[in-house]
Amino acid sequence: MASIATRSAQAIRATSRRAPRAAAKVSRPAQSASYSLLAARSAAASTPRRATVESVRGIKTLDFAGSKEVIYERSDWPLAKLQDYFKNDTLALIGYGSQGHGQGLNARDNGLNVIVGVREGGESWKQAQEDGWVPGETLFPIEEAIKRGTIIMNLLSDAAQSSTWPTVAPLITPGKTLYFSHGFSIVYKDDTHVVPPPDVDVILVAPKGSGRTVRTLFKEGRGINSSIAVWQDVTGKAKEKAVALGVAIGSGYLYETTFEKEVYSDLFGERGVLMGGIQGMFLAQYKVLRENGHSPSEAFNETVEEATQSLYPLIGAKGMDYMYNACSTTARRGALDWAPIFEAANKPVFEKLYESVKNGTETRKALEFNSRDTYRQDLAKELKEIDEQEIWRAGKTVRSLRPDYKP
Ligand SMILES: NC(=O)c1ccc[n+]([C@@H]2O[C@H](COP(=O)([O-])OP(=O)(O)OC[C@H]3O[C@@H](n4cnc5c(N)ncnc54)[C@H](OP(=O)(O)O)[C@@H]3O)[C@@H](O)[C@H]2O)c1
Repeated sequence: MASIATRSAQAIRATSRRAPRAAAKVSRPAQSASYSLLAARSAAASTPRRATVESVRGIKTLDFAGSKEVIYERSDWPLAKLQDYFKNDTLALIGYGSQGHGQGLNARDNGLNVIVGVREGGESWKQAQEDGWVPGETLFPIEEAIKRGTIIMNLLSDAAQSSTWPTVAPLITPGKTLYFSHGFSIVYKDDTHVVPPPDVDVILVAPKGSGRTVRTLFKEGRGINSSIAVWQDVTGKAKEKAVALGVAIGSGYLYETTFEKEVYSDLFGERGVLMGGIQGMFLAQYKVLRENGHSPSEAFNETVEEATQSLYPLIGAKGMDYMYNACSTTARRGALDWAPIFEAANKPVFEKLYESVKNGTETRKALEFNSRDTYRQDLAKELKEIDEQEIWRAGKTVRSLRPDYKP
């Protein structure tokens, strides 16, 4: 390895030297046709014409590292079939946050009958109007939308799903379908008190990404990966409906799971490697570098910049060994030696975290915090504290030196 001083001066260049960015581009198989484009054409025609998606793929069993899993694909649901399947349904989207926006607009563009239900005069009411939902026609107060809907898509915040349940529950009448995008409310029913009536189908479609990504990928003619699950199957059609709704809201591939597994893995992942874990690792490494006399720029470059700009995209594109192979033999030897040490140190933390998810501790904390009147301000205060940490202040300057920097 070069000396620390040399490496500090060359940190930005090192990013591209060790692992060229171009190599990080993921090439995805082209979809057979863009659903959003097909939907636009279909909507423009006076009578819905048959969509031209070729069904060259379909439900398939794939081998994931020796374990067989069934995957559903949208190519099994050409647009005309989708529109026909839901021709007698009204999708009532309750809540218009990130998921409401993405799922609602996609289902609407797919030519389905969609209405939105949110608090009158709230932020979401305004946002929905900006997106073309019309009060009294396609935009209603929550209770009214539920009454009008046949498929009730509960996309309120998880805390609000619990607090509004006493009003919502009596409106979920036989024949309706209850839909969620997270297993949270149902699985932790002892804390949320969300217990659906026994005579309705209860299903889940959980996109593996933010609602903004759900929308962007759809507009690009691609689709987000989602999980599907069934909690209650009264009609015998619950799974089929979940797959169809998954396609309707813009999914490309649908992985089957259960409500429990979806919520456990989701809460675990975001507290772990996806967010909390990575934040803790970044900070611990940065602090040790700083305590040993390294400059903020050097500590940031060796901790965050090279990770996010160079190495992690390589893992995403072709796996961990691919990333290792893009690095020097010196780096490979050391990382191979230290990986098991980090695994051993971290595994007990992950075990503790999983238990905390499973026994509902994480849920109770989230419900308590996010039910406060001041939850937005309280969260903003903690995030501001992160923004003001030296590591992230140093990061702002490092980012400003990127060739493609946009303020
Ligand atoms: N965001 C993601 O990345 C993601 C990914 C997959 C699944 N999910 C799941 O999708 C669901 C929706 O999440 P989200 O992120 O889209 O929404 P969110 O931001 O958590 O919730 C926003 C919606 O909840 C409404 N709301 C909040 N408190 C309310 C109350 N007391 N009474 C009535 N309405 C209230 C808001 O309306 P106002 O504007 O009127 O306050 C807004 O329409 C959740 O179950 C979530 O776990 C989210």
